[in-house]
Amino acid sequence: MRRIALLGATGSIGRQAIEVVDRNPELELVALASGSTDLTALAAEHGVEHVQVGGDVTELLDASAPDVVLNAIVGFAGVGATLWALERGVTLALANKESLVAAGELALEARARGGGLLLPVDSEHSAVLQCLESRESASVDSLVLTASGGPFRGRSRADLADVTVEDALAHPTWSMGPKITVDSATLANKGLELIEAHFLFDVPYERIEIVVHPTSVVHALVRFRDGAALAHLGYPDMTVPISYALTHPARAATEVPRLDLAGGLTLEFAAPDLDTFPLPALARRAGEAGGTYPAVFNAANEVAVAAFLEGRLPFLGIAEVVEDALDAADGAPARDLADLVEADAGARRLAGQGVAVA
Ligand SMILES: NC(=O)c1ccc[n+]([C@@H]2O[C@H](COP(=O)([O-])OP(=O)(O)OC[C@H]3O[C@@H](n4cnc5c(N)ncnc54)[C@H](OP(=O)(O)O)[C@@H]3O)[C@@H](O)[C@H]2O)c1
Repeated sequence: MRRIALLGATGSIGRQAIEVVDRNPELELVALASGSTDLTALAAEHGVEHVQVGGDVTELLDASAPDVVLNAIVGFAGVGATLWALERGVTLALANKESLVAAGELALEARARGGGLLLPVDSEHSAVLQCLESRESASVDSLVLTASGGPFRGRSRADLADVTVEDALAHPTWSMGPKITVDSATLANKGLELIEAHFLFDVPYERIEIVVHPTSVVHALVRFRDGAALAHLGYPDMTVPISYALTHPARAATEVPRLDLAGGLTLEFAAPDLDTFPLPALARRAGEAGGTYPAVFNAANEVAVAAFLEGRLPFLGIAEVVEDALDAADGAPARDLADLVEADAGARRLAGQGVAVA
């Protein structure tokens, strides 16, 4: 039996993870956490003793002693759980990309001490991991992360001035929670994934490329030094990376439809339009600058997305708030979690001021 702590159990990833657990007799839920949604019925249905709504999830993790932590909390709130698992060598199935972006250096140090497995649940990073498995890092030329382009692909900046929350939440290929759906519309999501990939696979930023691929069938590619490239294909369905991480290395069966090649697949790729969608370039700048700049990028983006979802900031204001926060921050490296929390709070203050004047 593999004992799973599911954090963010009521979200998009959390609900799909419960379906994966229900299908696999060797997986057992031992802890559930949410931000504010009541978990009484869910816990009773799945016979889960350890439950927490809001607050510090590390207490829940200490009490439930899981074999695997599936961190599907949204935002910086996931940092504590990521560091808890990595520090102890408990397998971490990581959907919460924001924690690795904000706390990348601290997370790698904790992983080195803990020595456990870090299995990304983000589909692109799960795909890269699978393409890289057991290959010499010296043979890797570069990584390619694909982006659907979101609902506004092909639009100009002028077209985006008046888009609504409803427009931004209408993702063409993936069904996800509201924050990541807006991140996909601005392409900030690909910026977060760029930084996440850098920390996960120890590949320098100049060797990680972002390409737009509207059908989301190819999740990522790895180019090798001999000129070959390996790609990971599948219909867009988070069941696959969730199941891969929870059942690793077994690749348990799923009911996800098999690729219908004879029926035809559209595999188009194009460069992202970084003039209209500047957030991936801002993420690259933050990642290359290092220190707490990635944490600033993440915090400012969280504040700006929340303001957009609440109707307090126009769509184009999201990138402006992030850019202004990066310009104003000092980016000093975080020696520990307290430093990181301070940098995050400072960036939130800067971004809050930016939202107020936008
Ligand atoms: N959805 C996807 O397909 C997808 C794909 C790749 C990566 N991800 C990443 O996975 C994470 C979750 O995404 P999602 O789409 O599942 O988001 P979501 O649908 O908004 O769900 C977020 C979950 O986090 C919980 N939560 C929020 N704050 C919390 C806190 N302080 N403590 C404990 N739980 C808290 C929420 O609980 P409440 O119900 O109480 O609010 C909810 O269960 C994000 O980092 C996202 O970038 C998602």
